[in-house]
Amino acid sequence: MAIFSIQRFNPEKDNVPCFKDYELNVPEGATVLDCLNLIKWTQDGTLTHRMSCRSAICGSCAVRVNGHPKLACKTQAADEIIGGRMKIEPIGNAKVLKDLVVDLELFYSKFQKVKPWLITEGSGVTGQGSENNKERRQSPEDFHRIDAASTCIMCACCVSDCNSWAANEKFLGPAALAKAQRFVDDSRDVGTLKRIKDLSEANGIWDCTHCGECVERCPAEVKPMDRIISLRTTSLKIGIWNNNGARHVRGFVDFIYKSGRLNENILPVKSMGIFNIPGLLSLIPVGIRMFLKGKNPPIIHRHIDEMDDVRRIFRKFKQKT
Ligand code: FES
Repeated sequence: MAIFSIQRFNPEKDNVPCFKDYELNVPEGATVLDCLNLIKWTQDGTLTHRMSCRSAICGSCAVRVNGHPKLACKTQAADEIIGGRMKIEPIGNAKVLKDLVVDLELFYSKFQKVKPWLITEGSGVTGQGSENNKERRQSPEDFHRIDAASTCIMCACCVSDCNSWAANEKFLGPAALAKAQRFVDDSRDVGTLKRIKDLSEANGIWDCTHCGECVERCPAEVKPMDRIISLRTTSLKIGIWNNNGARHVRGFVDFIYKSGRLNENILPVKSMGIFNIPGLLSLIPVGIRMFLKGKNPPIIHRHIDEMDDVRRIFRKFKQKT
């Protein structure tokens, strides 16, 4: 027996969501989705949630279980009952439509922006205008580069707990960027340069803050943050450097390579671009706030022992990559 505390919200009646408790005798081997269905079918037919495949394939049953997003159909209820209770809410970073159902329009619109289709010679669209519409074959090694991203089931678990998305809804987000990597690294796609240029704009690959939540929450093997890092690497390799993110990385590397340590006073200037006057002016309020809070880095850095070792290790690493 367990208490399920489930977030309820009916836009026709409620101004704010609230939690309602349901007591359920949890059958052995039941998933969280089985429990939601039992509650709906035997206790409260007004409870609204999504599901389809019940096999961790369609991605529609994602909900927050005890604070973090999971696929309800893939999650054993027994594993989530803590002290006789389980808390279930809608996934985060999305508008709640009703109870556990969220609006995924914004989420899907980000996929459209990364052009989730193969761009081929001639047409830009798979299968049209190509040489006799022939099958395009791919070696197992080439497929391996896009294998992880191909496993995405678009459940939005990664986006639910994405800190960058929470701070900026325009951020393309881990799911769409993982999808972008799937096409950028596809050996049959010819749109890499344009794709990477677009992805390097504001709200793209450089807006991820590496919090790693997406990797923790993804119920598949996508590891979205790793896919974003792969896109950044491609961007640097092909020379798309005229953006804050790439300048930041290059400035960072330059400091370590030359002096063995970071100069955090100069790095923001390098990242913004020394001729980017509006961008540099925009740093002033941030600098003042940091100064007032005592968070500004020291002008003269204290001596660090073994800086030569840092330089040596870094140079060795650079030679190998
Ligand atoms: S119902 Fe399809 S993934 Fe859970």
